[in-house]
Amino acid sequence: MEAARVEEVVADFVTLKRRGVNLIGLCPFHNERTPSFNVNPARNIFKCFGCGKGGDSVTFLREHENMSYVEALRWLANKYNIELEEVEQTPEQLAEIQLAESLYIVNEFGLQHFQHQLFETDEGKSVALSYFKNRGLREETIRTFGLGYAPDQRDLLLVSARANGHDPELLKKVGLCSQDGSRDFFRARVMFTIHNLSGKVAAFAGRTMSSDKKIPKYINSPETEIYVKNKILYGAHQAKRAIRQQDECILVEGYMDVIALYQEGIQNVVASSGTSLTEGQLQLIKRNTNNLKILYDGDSAGIKAALRGLDLALEQNLNVKICLLPDGHDPDSYVQEFSGEELTQYIEANSKDFILLKTELLLEETKNDPAKRTGLIKDIVASIAKIPDPIKRSVYLRECSALLEVPEDILVSETNKLINTNLRKSEEKAARRPEAASDSPPSFQGTEWPTELPPMSSDTELPPEQQWPEHIEQRPVAGHIEAFQEKDIIRMLVLYGDKMLEQEQVTVAQYILADIEESLDSFDNPLYGRIAAECRDMIVNGQTFDQHHFIQHDSSDVCELAINLIATPWEFSPNWEEMWSYPLQNQKMPELNFDLDMKQALLRFKLHKVMKMCEMNLNRVKKASQDGDDAEMMRYMKIQQKLNETRNEIAARVGTVVLPK
Ligand code: GTP
Ligand code: MN
Repeated sequence: MEAARVEEVVADFVTLKRRGVNLIGLCPFHNERTPSFNVNPARNIFKCFGCGKGGDSVTFLREHENMSYVEALRWLANKYNIELEEVEQTPEQLAEIQLAESLYIVNEFGLQHFQHQLFETDEGKSVALSYFKNRGLREETIRTFGLGYAPDQRDLLLVSARANGHDPELLKKVGLCSQDGSRDFFRARVMFTIHNLSGKVAAFAGRTMSSDKKIPKYINSPETEIYVKNKILYGAHQAKRAIRQQDECILVEGYMDVIALYQEGIQNVVASSGTSLTEGQLQLIKRNTNNLKILYDGDSAGIKAALRGLDLALEQNLNVKICLLPDGHDPDSYVQEFSGEELTQYIEANSKDFILLKTELLLEETKNDPAKRTGLIKDIVASIAKIPDPIKRSVYLRECSALLEVPEDILVSETNKLINTNLRKSEEKAARRPEAASDSPPSFQGTEWPTELPPMSSDTELPPEQQWPEHIEQRPVAGHIEAFQEKDIIRMLVLYGDKMLEQEQVTVAQYILADIEESLDSFDNPLYGRIAAECRDMIVNGQTFDQHHFIQHDSSDVCELAINLIATPWEFSPNWEEMWSYPLQNQKMPELNFDLDMKQALLRFKLHKVMKMCEMNLNRVKKASQDGDDAEMMRYMKIQQKLNETRNEIAARVGTVVLPK
């Protein structure tokens, strides 16, 4: 990663110009006319201030060139003449890779064959090409999606495959011929190619051109090592770039819908191919965007059932919107009758938030039926409880409370009950699978403080002059959503976690985590808490990590946070430079200052926690005073005094003055 200079890697694909210490260019991830794409050689990262994309050389290759992590490393190793030591593969692994490769090769042959039949034969042209053209497709589109034709002949493909030296066993395996090896599988059908994400041919679907209801409309290749249905989305390869650029994925039902919309300029579109969305498919989407918009046919009977299946998307923290098309239309027929632009306008005007739509639809269904109504409320609450983001949850609870005419606090408490149940279940599950404990979902729980502080020596008397203030400000205790102090800790871990502290002879990460170990479970912000806990686990396991670990993290919210933390110190400079054409020169390099920086961050973090404890304890004092429980009140006031002392001591060290309340 040190050898891989981000400015050199990016420059292989994007024209960059020097501007001060950075390089800038037109962002390849979104459309722009004035450059906001920055490459920072000192930090070895890139970041676009227009669309927010950022990362290191590996991120760039993965996103821009569609490479896998390993492919990106190979590419870099090759560019910088670094020999990669690959772990020797077991014979089984090798066999698996070779099998997959050979399956792709046979499928590629299949594609060539179907395309040849479509474009180069008289029958193909008159029967199939005209079918596609009648359905409004242009030749360019037909080629982009690898459409083809399988004539009504017994073994046309088989014969040609054999003549070209392909192994009949492999043809059977990918389902291009019958299991006895005597007939082609796809006959008298127009062909759709199903690509995997990187564009290799994973499978085919054949559509009959007959309207005979007894013939199945579509037949598909069987599942194989290279075609795992619930992990493939039709059109994802072609749509990938547009999904990222528009930060939204449109989901439709059919192959033809994807192709027709793509041709009409709506290119961020994929299909789940008739089945309900699976977790694997959602993850595929999630890697590219958090915004999912689903188009359902106007007369789609199963709409309510479909909505029930969408909680899975909420769990992934996707924002889900639904658009119902006018009666009798599917996306394909809509763009054929009107246009892509009109569909875009229609979608714009008619998309509804999934949870609100679900509430409305079910409400209609359960009108005047209190028993059903209860079920509906439970159903909605179950959906909301799946949302990991507490802010989002509270917004929905408010809106649904109005729609359902149920008091908000009842919905809130029902949701919390469910969250706790879910949490317990997932914890039990994690406990049963210790090796997978790290991918349990983020904790939903807010900060919880022990109800009792350690006992204090009895000689700590309250000074008589300490008066109890008349009115105590009542503030929410866990309401510090932004949690700056926590963010700062995470920033230190990400930026300097692997750096050695000269005096202490431990790494920054070791120092920080040892220092705040007891607060690790009480982070306000679940994401920060998750990262801190992960760092602790790595250190406990003797693993080291640097910023690359976070930039290439499996979960995208961590990647995003990491790149923002790393990019933050120079977020000002592009504007600054644009305004004054003068780069900052006297800025202190934070790299040289991390020791002090970190210790300050730790103190601020502790100060924040102590102040929260102060606040919380003050509320206890107040309550005891209201209840007239003098003994209890005295006890809490002693605690308060101790807390105030600690607070003042830390504050003094931070150099912050804490104003007495
Ligand atoms: P057209 O009727 O040509 O417009 O195709 P479509 O893609 O719009 O199909 P439709 O809306 O009827 O169905 C949506 C999707 O469900 C299809 O794209 C297929 O993935 C799947 N599907 C539909 N019918 C069948 C079938 O008979 N068998 C299988 N395996 N899948 C089907
Ligand atoms: Mn259709």
